Amino acid sequence: MITRLYRAEEEGSLEACAKLLRDGALCAFPTETVYGLGANALLPHSVRRIFEAKGRPSDNPLIVHLADSSQIPALCAEFSQKAELLCQTFMPGPFTLILPQKDRFDAVVTAGLPTVAFRVPSDPVAHKLLSLAGVPVAAPSANASGRPSPTAVQHVLEDLDGKVEAILDGGPCSIGVESTVLSLAGPVPKLLRPGDITVSQIEDVIGPIEISPALLRSLQEHEKAEAPGMKYRHYAPKCPLTLLDGSPEKALEWLMANQISKDSYLLCQQEDRDLFKAYSLILSGSHQDPLSQEQALFASLRKLDERQATVAYALLPPDEDRFRAVRNRLLKAGGFQVIHL
Ligand code: TXA
Ligand code: MG
Repeated sequence: MITRLYRAEEEGSLEACAKLLRDGALCAFPTETVYGLGANALLPHSVRRIFEAKGRPSDNPLIVHLADSSQIPALCAEFSQKAELLCQTFMPGPFTLILPQKDRFDAVVTAGLPTVAFRVPSDPVAHKLLSLAGVPVAAPSANASGRPSPTAVQHVLEDLDGKVEAILDGGPCSIGVESTVLSLAGPVPKLLRPGDITVSQIEDVIGPIEISPALLRSLQEHEKAEAPGMKYRHYAPKCPLTLLDGSPEKALEWLMANQISKDSYLLCQQEDRDLFKAYSLILSGSHQDPLSQEQALFASLRKLDERQATVAYALLPPDEDRFRAVRNRLLKAGGFQVIHL
């Protein structure tokens, strides 16, 4: 298949992509978090092709993307006051809400779960595309399954060229990690995936929430994943990645004490350039700036493969709410292999 590349700033490109989506084609598009691979959520055979193009396991449900959160109440079985407050506060934005579903979407979208995930992107290109399409759009991140999510059109091309009808180039994503996923389908609101919207921001709106234990450690054998995506290996570079949890100074001490080869790659922050100058560095954002780390993270992980790294280490950001998304993605990328310094 020949994949057509559209540029968002070219006249008529959004209209063309919206028509492709409506008519059942696959189209990758930018959002403020990461690029998504969209299909008309009302056409099961189109949605099924998303799984083929990505190599995604079919038991991993998709997020339904909408132009406006006012569409959500009609599409779910139960829209509580908490749901309303969350929609008002965080939509449009990098936030996904899981609600009990009302038999509206085919099992290929929801993986047969009794719930469905909704997101309303704030990125202007995504918003315009969804408005023009006029249908709900099922979209996972537009990477090949297992690879880091795409934060620039180049990453989408690497993974999906020749597998989808269209890719819409809207430039780099402004946030860089996937949306915060919160479930309101159980007795207590539960965080299933951390993102740029933090736990404290959510708790300011609806009070205490639970944090899924799977976010902090790998799932035990026979343990059920609350978000099916939790159980799959994600973001991992081809080489082994070990995570260092502690200050940059302690990390350097450990690397030297353990005679770690100078050929090793090290993912660290730009302020650490001189400290770690003996190693091959990939600089990923700045220490006190969680957004800068979110923006750089997935491209940094892809660089390890591009440079054919054979061994890699990454500094974990502090165990604080504002860094929770970056820590979680790194923990997953490194298979929870952590050296506590
Ligand atoms: O920022 C984002 O959310 C991006 C952009 C494209 O919108 N999308 C994205 O989709 O990250 P995906 O498919 O890569 O990740 C969705 C996650 C998966 O871990 C999936 O298991 C979970 O959300 N999920 C979707 N529907 C669910 C449901 N009904 N119950 C529990 N988890 C669900
Ligand atoms: Mg994904």
